[in-house]
Amino acid sequence: MAFRKAEWPRKLRSTEWFGGSSRDHIYHRSWMKNQGLPADLFDGRPVIGICNTWSELTPCNAHLRDLAQRVKHGIYEAGGLPVEFPVFSTGESALRPTAMMFRNLAAMDVEEALRGNPLDGVVLLAGCDKTTPALLMGAASVDIPAILVSGGPMLNGWFRGERVGSGTALWQMSEAIKAGTMSREGFLEAEQAMSRSPGSCNTMGTASTMASMAEALGMALSGNAAIPAVDSRRRVMAHLTGRRIVEMVKDDLKPSDILTREAFENAIRVNGAIGGSTNAVIHLLAIAGRVGVDLSLDDWDRLGRDVPTIVNLMPSGKYLMEEFFYAGGLPVVVKRLGEAGLLHRDALTVSGGPVWDEVKDVRNWNEDVILPADKALTTQGGIAVLRGNLAPSGAVLKPSAASPHLMKHRGRAVVFEDIDDYKAKIGDDALDIDETCVMVLKNCGPRGYPGMAEVGNMGLPPKVLRKGITDMVRISDARMSGTAYGTVVLHVAPEAAAGGPLAIVRDGDMIEIDVESRRLHLDVPEAEIAARRAAWTPTVATPSGGYARMFAEHVQGADTGADFDFLKGSRGRAVARDSH
Ligand code: FES
Repeated sequence: MAFRKAEWPRKLRSTEWFGGSSRDHIYHRSWMKNQGLPADLFDGRPVIGICNTWSELTPCNAHLRDLAQRVKHGIYEAGGLPVEFPVFSTGESALRPTAMMFRNLAAMDVEEALRGNPLDGVVLLAGCDKTTPALLMGAASVDIPAILVSGGPMLNGWFRGERVGSGTALWQMSEAIKAGTMSREGFLEAEQAMSRSPGSCNTMGTASTMASMAEALGMALSGNAAIPAVDSRRRVMAHLTGRRIVEMVKDDLKPSDILTREAFENAIRVNGAIGGSTNAVIHLLAIAGRVGVDLSLDDWDRLGRDVPTIVNLMPSGKYLMEEFFYAGGLPVVVKRLGEAGLLHRDALTVSGGPVWDEVKDVRNWNEDVILPADKALTTQGGIAVLRGNLAPSGAVLKPSAASPHLMKHRGRAVVFEDIDDYKAKIGDDALDIDETCVMVLKNCGPRGYPGMAEVGNMGLPPKVLRKGITDMVRISDARMSGTAYGTVVLHVAPEAAAGGPLAIVRDGDMIEIDVESRRLHLDVPEAEIAARRAAWTPTVATPSGGYARMFAEHVQGADTGADFDFLKGSRGRAVARDSH
């Protein structure tokens, strides 16, 4: 069913600034005209923001100003007035302590920029991991028409005849060096090969996952997620997005019309089919919180449980985003879910029509990249949500990236109190650890780190690696990079810094994990657990000031999306007061 269109022409929000002859209207228009804008551009046409996360400190987004020009072409062509503006850019590769600490800050920046300015709609330009959820969260809280266009992934990396996947290869090579199977010179040589073009990580890491989530939610045009950054079709996508937002404003097609419960359910299933990042769990919970959709961790487990992972991309599989695009990209996956009865076909997208209309005629051009169901990487592709006395509010594990033989395991805990403790001990061959142990890392959750760093996929001890072992069970309240892999239990909630049971685990405790029954159990008598918890005192100090303090005081648990308590919900587009 097509979206019910609003009456057009009608008076838009931007006319409150530009549409009259009062002193204030003249003031608003005149200053804009210092950019050389002709008078007829203020005739009541849609004013469209281009919200740009361009930054040379976010290399994955460093090409976005070029894409913004393409968006502008489309907006002008469709009869709108484009205005580009920058927002805080959360670059994954350089920003410390972790880009995740600034996702909510960026979302606040977006929200206030959209509400406070004379905008009728917005094109969200994102790329690197956190930029996508930050923009969607901010736009959802203002609820003006919004559409996202991604920067697109880097071209395939190639090194010594092999594909080099962003992040995934880095983890593999650093483990190979510790195991003595790769030279430092080879590692340095691979450095340039990993990143050979503009764009975001070329694996199905968090950036590609979130681009796929935006498309699956209906917030980007069909086909947006996979087009490589440097392919001319990426520019076409930006151009078409610019055209489309003008029509969305005329129709008043808003995020709250698109981001329904059905949209989130579609996205969760798509995440299972693509073998997407565990980070998507946190980000979708946070976006849902902004639009008042009651999404929970259990929805992730329930909806993703029987979705086979059919996209054969690293870190779960073999190929990279470039090949995914050539095979047909995300529309093929969405169509497959629709054919399997795992899609809400009527879910509305930015196109103004149902998602099924966008995908029903697409074809799969490479069945080794997008696999037939009987050749799926795993039949249980969703995110497994584990619970038990070690994670009463839940923890997550990505089955497609885990080792089958460790999915049911009992082992002795080797505990690291924080990431510094881990770094100090892990390289020491005297550490009492072998491959049957369970590595436990504390104080890396939203409050503990702070920001919830991607350190959950702790590297294995060198003495274990030298035996040729490549995986062990690891448990933490941290996140892990979407490019990482292993039998890694993440996002344990409540986190250790908030006094969750993870805080009281000690060396030598026995831990049981059973993914099939979704169980995570600390095999310590209840009385002993109670005694340890009673004696527990916080070890992580609250930052003394600045944004870090605000973050620590207001961030919510990973199990609800790690948003700030005061940012949940939509605050709408109305401005409280005009200053003039
Ligand atoms: Fe930016 Fe991976 S570091 S997308």
